[in-house]
Amino acid sequence: MKVDGKHTRTIWLEADGWTVGTIDQRRLPHDYVVVKLTSSDDAADAIRTMLVRGAPLIGATAAYGMALAMREDASDAGLDAAYAKLVATRPTAINLKWALDEMRRALAPVQPADRVAAAYRRAGEIADEDVAINQAIGASGLKLIEAIAATKKPGERVNVLTHCNAGWLATVDWGTATAPIYQAFDAGIPIHVYADETRPRNQGASLTAWELGHHGVDHTVIPDNTGGHLMQHGLVDIVIVGTDRVTADGDVCNKIGTYLKALAAADNKVPFYVALPSPTIDFTIHDGVREIPIEQREAAEVTDMTGRTNDGRIETVRIVPQGSKVANYGFDVTPARLVTGLITERGVLKADRAALAAAFPERVAQA
Ligand code: MRU
Repeated sequence: MKVDGKHTRTIWLEADGWTVGTIDQRRLPHDYVVVKLTSSDDAADAIRTMLVRGAPLIGATAAYGMALAMREDASDAGLDAAYAKLVATRPTAINLKWALDEMRRALAPVQPADRVAAAYRRAGEIADEDVAINQAIGASGLKLIEAIAATKKPGERVNVLTHCNAGWLATVDWGTATAPIYQAFDAGIPIHVYADETRPRNQGASLTAWELGHHGVDHTVIPDNTGGHLMQHGLVDIVIVGTDRVTADGDVCNKIGTYLKALAAADNKVPFYVALPSPTIDFTIHDGVREIPIEQREAAEVTDMTGRTNDGRIETVRIVPQGSKVANYGFDVTPARLVTGLITERGVLKADRAALAAAFPERVAQA
């Protein structure tokens, strides 16, 4: 997508052909800072510290991390060590393991002397595939938005609610939940987005709002608890969120708070859609609540808030009393029964085992 008129992806190879460039998402929306990753430790740290985040981008960064690792040690032991280091960086998004498995499959049969080139080639393909998949997700989801737009009176807009950031910043380009939004906007459909702020890290307020603003999409940032009220008053036409892992039966794991939006949507008969690339499906598990590991992050994300002061300084302040305990679960699971449909690169699917298996038989065979 474009930043200040210039097209950019979230991850790329620098002109030297091996350094990996990316955007430090911890600094947005205040500062747009490009960072260079030059080692597998850099890539692992970038994922762990959420310099990069979002399931597909985590996967692409891990893939490039393997390429950097092959420059350091291309032996079988080096391959295993890099896989172990990178896979341990974040537990919930299955795209991380998927990308690393892809890299291992590509590299294991190759002689160590040829592994650096093979690794950069496969990492580049994974990044390119993500862009193509997200574009196709956009085309699938655009049809849903067009159908809603067709029911509107002149001058009315399609109102979409989204949670967290499943935008282009969370992928290599386009985003998942945002791809249909960008394509609808580009097609001239009047569209407006409610962006949940998404405490505690505020990816909606700081990243989704930043992206939508740069693309010119009209949007309103809302506190996380506002969605139910909006739905009761007919102000949301469709919810579209992303996901970090979908089970073989269609349960959806996404940023904490997604489940509550799905409950509110079901109660108000607002369609609740989840946009995902097929690498986000984990065909090895069925029951999302019991089987998906939920990341728990540090208390400081809840106790402290960081922002820019009116005189331009970045400042962190504490908002919780000293001594209060804090729980910081990063994700929750929305059961398939609450999901109206899954927007994928192969169309909009029912959130169930038969539909997923029929759409992605090659992934079932691999699992
Ligand atoms: O903790 P984050 O910021 O990595 O969480 C991101 C999300 O929950 C996204 O919705 C998900 O990764 C899908 S991104 C296309």
